[in-house]
Amino acid sequence: MTGTARLHAPLDLREHLARLEAKGLLTRIDEPVNKDTQLHPLVRWQFTGGLPESARRAFMFTNVFGADGRKFSSPVVVGALAASPEIYATGMGVTVDEIGDVWTRGIASPIDPVRIENPPCQEVVITGDDLRKPGGGLASLPIPVSTPGFDSAPYFTATLCTTKDPETHVQNMGTYRAGLKATDRLCVRMATRLTGAGGYQHWLKYKEMGKPMPIAIVVGASPIVQYTGPQKLATDLDEMAVAGGLSGAPIRTCKALTVDLVVPADAEIVVEGLIDTDCVEPEGPFGESHGYIALEEFNMSMRVTAITHRRDPILVSIVSQVTPSESSVMKKVAYEPLYLEHLKKVLNIKGLTGVVMHEPLSNLRPIIFLQFAPKSIQSEVWRGLQGASTLQAQCGKIVIAVTNDVDPRNADAVFWSMAYRSNPIEDLLVVPYRSRSHGPKSESGAANSTLLIDATAKSVMPPLALPARQYMDEAKEIWERIGLPPLSPQAPWHGVHLGDWDDRWERFAQAAARGEWERNGENSFQRRRPDVAPETPVRRVEKD
Ligand SMILES: Cc1cc2nc3c(=O)[nH]c(=O)nc-3n(C[C@H](O)[C@H](O)[C@H](O)COP(=O)(O)O)c2cc1C
Repeated sequence: MTGTARLHAPLDLREHLARLEAKGLLTRIDEPVNKDTQLHPLVRWQFTGGLPESARRAFMFTNVFGADGRKFSSPVVVGALAASPEIYATGMGVTVDEIGDVWTRGIASPIDPVRIENPPCQEVVITGDDLRKPGGGLASLPIPVSTPGFDSAPYFTATLCTTKDPETHVQNMGTYRAGLKATDRLCVRMATRLTGAGGYQHWLKYKEMGKPMPIAIVVGASPIVQYTGPQKLATDLDEMAVAGGLSGAPIRTCKALTVDLVVPADAEIVVEGLIDTDCVEPEGPFGESHGYIALEEFNMSMRVTAITHRRDPILVSIVSQVTPSESSVMKKVAYEPLYLEHLKKVLNIKGLTGVVMHEPLSNLRPIIFLQFAPKSIQSEVWRGLQGASTLQAQCGKIVIAVTNDVDPRNADAVFWSMAYRSNPIEDLLVVPYRSRSHGPKSESGAANSTLLIDATAKSVMPPLALPARQYMDEAKEIWERIGLPPLSPQAPWHGVHLGDWDDRWERFAQAAARGEWERNGENSFQRRRPDVAPETPVRRVEKD
C-alpha cells in the first residue's frame, strides 16, 4: 500500500452508489426507459461515442418498464462496477494506482468471512407458487436485454454464481451469464474450455454422483465481493475469503434458504436453485465479451427454488460484449497487475517495466504488450514473451515486447515500433499447440498457436523527430492563450533522446534555437572534405 490512509471499501452496493454520486460519477435517469430495448444501448454510447474513459459514468435508471409495458418499482444500475478504472477503484475504497497492490495482498492474505443471522439479502423471500405465477418470480425483476436485436432473452450479467465442490466443500463464485427461460427457470453458461469456469468442474462432479448441483446466483453484492467473480483464482481459494483480504475485513455472509450454500449477506438479490446434471438446455444467442454473438448452444438448466432480496432491491447489470466495456475494464485493472507481479516477482524478468492488455475490440486476452527498459537483455525479453503467453491458457496468443518509450495503448505507436525496431526473420517466433481460447465458435476447430514479437529497440537510436518538450510546452501555452480548439496530446507528442546523439549535435541544436545557425554553418564549412561520397556518416570519417 502506498502513502495515504485507506478509506474502507464500501460495505454494500448502496454505500458504493452513494460514494459514486458524491464524486459526480453517477448519472440518474428518471425518464421512462425500456429495459428490453433502450437501457443497455443508452449506456453503450459512453463506450462507443468517442468519450474519454474519464467521462464514463455509472447510470441509475429509476423509471424502468418492459417491452410488454409493465413498470418495475426497482431501479437498475449499469456501469456502477467498472465503467472506468476510477469507478472500480471507488468500489475498492482505494485510488486507481493502488488497485494492483490490493489484489496482490488480498490473494496472499485471505480473511475468512463471518456468518450472520437475519441478513439484508433475505428481507423478502419468494418461494413456491409465487415463483410460477404470471409476472412473478424472475419476471418480477427488471432484468435487461443486453444486445437488443440479437439476444434471445433478458440476462443476469453481474452475477456471482456460487457453487460448492462436493468433495472439498470449497465454494466457488464466478461471474457467468444467466438467461431467463421461465419465471422459475434460468439457463447458466459455464465455460467448459481448459481453465474455463470453476463451476463447471463442480457440475461434472455432481453429474458423476447423479445429483443436481445446488447454485445461488448472487446479484448486487458489495463491489469488493463482486470483483472476485471475474478474477482467475486458484480453485482451492474461496472468493469470499479473498474479498475479505481485499477489503482488510471479513465479509458478512449467511446461509442460503433452500440450498446448502453460503452467500454474501449484504447482496441485493439471491436466486437459489438446482442445476440439472442429467440434461442440458439450449441457451443463447447472447452477445459475448469476445465481441461476437454466442450462438445457441446447450448449457446448464437451473430450476429456481427461491428468490430472496432486500426490500426495494437494486438490479445491477454489466455492459459486456464488444470492448471496451465495463467487463473489460473490470478484467484489465485486475489482470494487468497480476501479470506484472508474476513476470517480475516469480519469473524475475529483468528490465520489464509494464504489462498492457489490449482492450479495444480484442477483449484483453489474445493480445498482450510488454514494456522493457532501454538496453534490456534480449534473452530476458524472450523469457518475458514466453512467460506472458503461458501464464494462462486463454491469454497471450500474441505477445509483443516494446521499449518503454512506446505506449502500447496507442496501436499506431506499436506498429511504428514493429516497423523500425524489429526484423521479422530474427524477432518473431510462432509457437505451435495453443489451446483454443475464448472466441466465436464458428472458428475452425484446429489447435491454435502463439505469435511472439520482440519489437524493442535493439540498439541506441537517434532522437524522436518532434520538437523537444520545452518547445512543445511553450507552443501549447500560446495555442491555449489564443483560443484555438482544445488539445488532447497523443503520445508521442514531443521529441526524446533514444541514446544516439553527441555533444556537438546538441550544441548545433541549441545554437539554432538561439538563432545562431550561421555559427553552425561556419563550423561545418571548416569540415568540408573532397575524399568521401555523399551520405557518408560524418562520425565514420571524423575521429573526435
Ligand atoms: C460480465 C462478465 C460475464 C462473464 N460471463 C461468463 C460466462 O457466461 N461464463 C463463463 O464461464 N465465464 C464468464 N465470464 C468470465 C469469468 O467470470 C471468469 O473466467 C472467472 O475467472 C470465472 O471464475 P472461476 O474461475 O471461479 O470460474 C464473465 C466475466 C464477466 C466480467
